[in-house]
Amino acid sequence: MSFVRAYAPATIANLGVGFDILGMAIRGAGDVVDVALRPDPGVNLLSVSGDDGRLPRETERNTATVAAAAVLRLAGADMGLDVHLLKGLPLNSGLGSSAASAVAAAIATNACLGEPLQREELLPACLEAEAIVSGWHADNIAPSLLGGIRLIAGTEADQIHELPAPDQLHLALVTPEVDVPTRLAREVLPTHVTLAQMVAQTSAAARLVAALYTGDLATLAQAMEADGVVEPARSSLMPKLPEARLATRGAGGLGLFISGAGPTLCAVCESEALARDVEAALGAVYQEAGIPCQARATQVDPAGARLL
Ligand code: HSE
Repeated sequence: MSFVRAYAPATIANLGVGFDILGMAIRGAGDVVDVALRPDPGVNLLSVSGDDGRLPRETERNTATVAAAAVLRLAGADMGLDVHLLKGLPLNSGLGSSAASAVAAAIATNACLGEPLQREELLPACLEAEAIVSGWHADNIAPSLLGGIRLIAGTEADQIHELPAPDQLHLALVTPEVDVPTRLAREVLPTHVTLAQMVAQTSAAARLVAALYTGDLATLAQAMEADGVVEPARSSLMPKLPEARLATRGAGGLGLFISGAGPTLCAVCESEALARDVEAALGAVYQEAGIPCQARATQVDPAGARLL
């Protein structure tokens, strides 16, 4: 039987100050999943490539197969599936790798079944998969599935709101080759914040949303950098964060924040040319430190996951 192939993009969660409530899909990097229906029940993970053998092959521990099985269940389908996962995203890098695998598998499975579920109805299946590796949060899942920049006010579809993505918003990313498992990056977070921290954090998150509406990139970057709770707790896990911030400014970028749980860092730029300059400057920071890295310039992906 022929396979259905789907692609789901990388995502940048938190956008600095919006821990677990903001996320955006980005162009140019993502995971691909092929699925084919079988008449007998059960989900088989037939192959995984691009992960250097690091991802679990057990179907109940791999986010692609967990999401695929959940879609079969939600759709009331009694057949089985063969799944191939082609990883385009590095693991534990802060680019929503586990979410992209889940989302690609969910939309491929739904397409195989003749699309019994609407796009938003795939959200619980993807969340179930994400929860097995990094907890119950949708700030990677929602933008990968739906595209664009999303406010994730809850995990129900009607609590996920699209925010405007300014046309002139360009991003420069750098991913140093350092593993930062999301579970570890969540364990270092404080369980309580002061009232003053709460006021500063909510004010910055509100400023960020307002700046998306006005398209004011300088204010946007300033708000993204104003995280006084999560970044300080995680900074020891992010090599060369202060140097990367200085290099961003030096190359004409407006600001830099940790992408998701890190170690990828994301710089805000106001043109493609500046994003290329910042990409080079960020790459140089890690080269000088002897840390292999991948740097790229990109933009928001407005479409999200799609069939190929
Ligand atoms: N909001 C999540 C975090 C994203 O920062 O822990 C990582 O999956």
